[in-house]
Amino acid sequence: MNFSHSGDSLHLKGDKATFGTLVFFINKEDEIVSALTPKDRTLTKAVNSVLENQHLGKGNFSLAKSSLVGTAEPVSLILIRCKSASLTRDEFRTMANSVSKSLAASSQTNIHMDVSAIEVQDQSIEDALQYFTVQTVKAGYRFQEFKSKKKAAAKAKKLSFHIGEAKIAPALKQGKAIGEGISLTRDLGNRPGNHCTPTHLAEEAIELGEKSKNLSTTIHEEAEMQELGMGSFLSVTAGSDQPAKLIEMNYQGAGDDSAPFVLIGKGITFDTGGISMKPPGSMDEMKFDMCGAATVFGVMKAVAKLQLPINLVGLVAAAENMPGGDATKPGDIVTSMSGKTIEVLNTDAEGRLVLCDTLSFAQRFNPSLMIDVATLTGACIVALGSHASALYSNDEELASGLLQAGQTTGDRLWRMPLWKEYTKQLDSNFADLANIGGPKAGSVTAACFLQEFVGKTPWAHLDIAGTAWLQGARKGATGRPVEMIMQFLLDQLD
Ligand code: BES
Ligand code: MN
Ligand code: ZN
Repeated sequence: MNFSHSGDSLHLKGDKATFGTLVFFINKEDEIVSALTPKDRTLTKAVNSVLENQHLGKGNFSLAKSSLVGTAEPVSLILIRCKSASLTRDEFRTMANSVSKSLAASSQTNIHMDVSAIEVQDQSIEDALQYFTVQTVKAGYRFQEFKSKKKAAAKAKKLSFHIGEAKIAPALKQGKAIGEGISLTRDLGNRPGNHCTPTHLAEEAIELGEKSKNLSTTIHEEAEMQELGMGSFLSVTAGSDQPAKLIEMNYQGAGDDSAPFVLIGKGITFDTGGISMKPPGSMDEMKFDMCGAATVFGVMKAVAKLQLPINLVGLVAAAENMPGGDATKPGDIVTSMSGKTIEVLNTDAEGRLVLCDTLSFAQRFNPSLMIDVATLTGACIVALGSHASALYSNDEELASGLLQAGQTTGDRLWRMPLWKEYTKQLDSNFADLANIGGPKAGSVTAACFLQEFVGKTPWAHLDIAGTAWLQGARKGATGRPVEMIMQFLLDQLD
C-alpha cells in the first residue's frame, strides 16, 4: 500500500480526471461533503444515481458501494454517509475499520478519498489519518506462508487522500511504517513453534539489523547467559533441545549522551507449561507466547524505518518451555542474575523467569525507561478480556504517557495496581521469593514479581495475554500493542 495526498478535487472529466475507487463522505441531505471546489457534474450525477438505487441506512454512518459504467475507465464509488462531518473518535474508528476492509477487498488499485471536510473531535486530522493508514495496511494483511495454494497476492494499491493544504505527509509515512511493523509482528506470531524457534527469532533479528540503518543486533548465547548468572532464565530452557537466545537489537538514532528507551519482549516460542504441563485444549495457541517479542520486532522495524531521533534497545528473551529429563521441577530453587533466589513452584509461570533476568540485564544500558511486553498470565484475560492490555508501572509520567497513547490509537490499556500487599503473596518458605502468588490476582502478582527486578528505573509492564491474538475462526496474531508503543515513542519527540 502506498499513501499520498493531494489538494485537488475529484474529477471524472477533464485532463485531471481521477479513476479507480473514489471515496466520498455524504451528508444527511445526500450531498458530497467536500471543501474542495469545483464539483464535477458527472460525479454529482453518479453519486445521486447510486443514492437513488441503494438504500443507505439512517444510522450514524453507512456505506454504499457501486461500480459505475459509462466513464472512460471503470470507476467505483464508496459513499460514506455520516450524521455530520464532525465525527467522534469512536465514530471515526468504526468508519475507518469498515472502509479500510472494503478497500482491501476491492480489486481496484487506485483509490482516491476526499477527506477535506472531515473533522474528528479531540483528535488532529494528522492522528486520524495516521490511524486510517494503519488500519488500511492491517486490513490487507494475509498470512499464507504455510498454504500450498496461495491466493494471488493483492496488487500494490495506491491511496491518495484529497485534503487541500493540510500537512499530512508525516502522518501517512508514520502510518505506513507502523502498519508494516504490525505485519512483521503478526507474521512472527503466526508462525508455528516448529519453525519459529529461539534460533529463528535470532536470525530474524540479524536480518532486520542488516536491512536497517542504525540498527545492530547481538545474540547472547546460553554460555554467556551462564556467565552472567542468569539462572532463572536458563531454568526455563533446561527441558528443551532448542538453545535459548537473548537477542539484543540496538537502534541509535540520537547521540551517545541520550539515554535509551529499553523494550523487552517475552519470547517463549512454545509454552507447554513444562513439568507443570498445560491441559491439551487450545495448547496450540501457546505458539503465540512470543507475541511480546514479536511486538519488540515490529516496533524496532517501524522506528528504524522512520529513523526516529531516539536511542532504543530491544531485548528479546527467547526460549522454549518444555518438559524433559533436564527440565526444571516444581520446588527447584534457582538464582537469578540479581542474586535473588526463586522457588519455582510452577514451571508454567515461566515468562517472569526469563523476564526478570532480562530486566537485570537491561540495567547495563542505563535506560531512561523500560517497557516489558508479555503474554504473561491467563488471569489477565479473566480480568480484562480482549479489549485492553494490562498496564503496570512504578512511574506516573510513564504510565500516563502510555495510557494516552492507548487512547490516541484505540490500542487501549487499563492500569492495574502494584501494591505491596500483593507482593506478599510471593513469599516463599525456602527462597527469596516464589514464582507464583496463589490463585488470586494472578496478573497482578506476576507484575509484582517483575517489579522486584527493576530497581529505580521508570518501568512499565504490559500484560498482553488477552490482546495479542484472536481465537476461533479468526485465530491469528493481532499485532497489538505495536501501534500504541509507536504512538508513545512519537509523542516523546514533541
Ligand atoms: N503463557 C502463559 C499465559 C497465557 C495463558 C497467556 C493463556 C494467554 C493464554 C503463561 O506462561 C502461564 O502459563 N501463566 C500461568 C501462570 C500460573 C501458573 C501462575 C497462567 O496464567 O495460568
Ligand atoms: Mn506458562
Ligand atoms: Zn507462557
